[in-house]
Amino acid sequence: MNHIHGPGRQMDLEASRTRVREASEAILRRTGLHPHVGLILGSGLSSLAGEMKDSVSIPYAEIPHFVSATVEGHLGELVMGALAGLPTMLMRGRVHYYEGYTMEQVTFPIRVMRHLGVKYLIVTNAAGALKPEFRVGDLMLITDHLGLVNMVGLNPLIGPNDPAIGPRFPDMSQAYDPGLRKLALEASEELGIHLHQGVYVMLSGPSFETPADLRFLRLIGADAVGMSTVPEVTVAHHAGIRVLGISGISNSAVLEPGSPPLSHEEVLAAGQTVVAHLAPLIKRVLGMMEPQGGEAPSALQ
Ligand code: HPA
Repeated sequence: MNHIHGPGRQMDLEASRTRVREASEAILRRTGLHPHVGLILGSGLSSLAGEMKDSVSIPYAEIPHFVSATVEGHLGELVMGALAGLPTMLMRGRVHYYEGYTMEQVTFPIRVMRHLGVKYLIVTNAAGALKPEFRVGDLMLITDHLGLVNMVGLNPLIGPNDPAIGPRFPDMSQAYDPGLRKLALEASEELGIHLHQGVYVMLSGPSFETPADLRFLRLIGADAVGMSTVPEVTVAHHAGIRVLGISGISNSAVLEPGSPPLSHEEVLAAGQTVVAHLAPLIKRVLGMMEPQGGEAPSALQ
């Protein structure tokens, strides 16, 4: 396929717009809801969907061009409803690059969110702690990310750019919205929930890191490591969606001599502890965002 020149490039863009439109229309046929907020639940965090009110669930398999999650801990359905009174499109499980999907497939739901009118994306994940003081079950507000997978040529924005969505060369100096970060810190203080702050690094996975990988990640300034989030945030920020990112610490990634091997089960098991803090925090942040007449939530102006 010719991605670079001439009519092929325009056809790629048209085909991509058509896919987004078809998925959006299928979702709107099931609910009249026009979501204001997008929320992606990471590994082991699916139970947070129970906080949604008046919701309609749509399996990814019933939405054109959505691909299904193949990993345990990711259910694979959209839940459309109200969270803290705001119309929300919740992804109960996501797909990852390591499952063999393309970056376009991994980030397709973000394009659909934008098409449906989403202005704010809250993205969560399970992550390994690279800081010894982080404990299993803790939350980390993502202040920035290290896009190692983007850097090696897997940036999801590679290919023809759709200027109707965003610029060819998007700025990434404030990918994690400062206004939303401030709200999250205020909310955590009010609720007495400790919120660490730090830099998230994505590796493709699916293998966990070697001890040498982990030493490298600490040296380059990463605080938590996982296998997701960066593609979705890159595509959302490009599209002008304001992003709040929160990692739930599922395990220590600081290896001591004799550390036991890490497993996916351990990552999932931490989910319940994480959700106990994450659910009230997200609801409080959304409550603080509630629009008071205007288009933009008043607390963010
Ligand atoms: N490494 C990579 N991805 C992860 C980890 C980890 O330690 N924990 C949860 N996701």
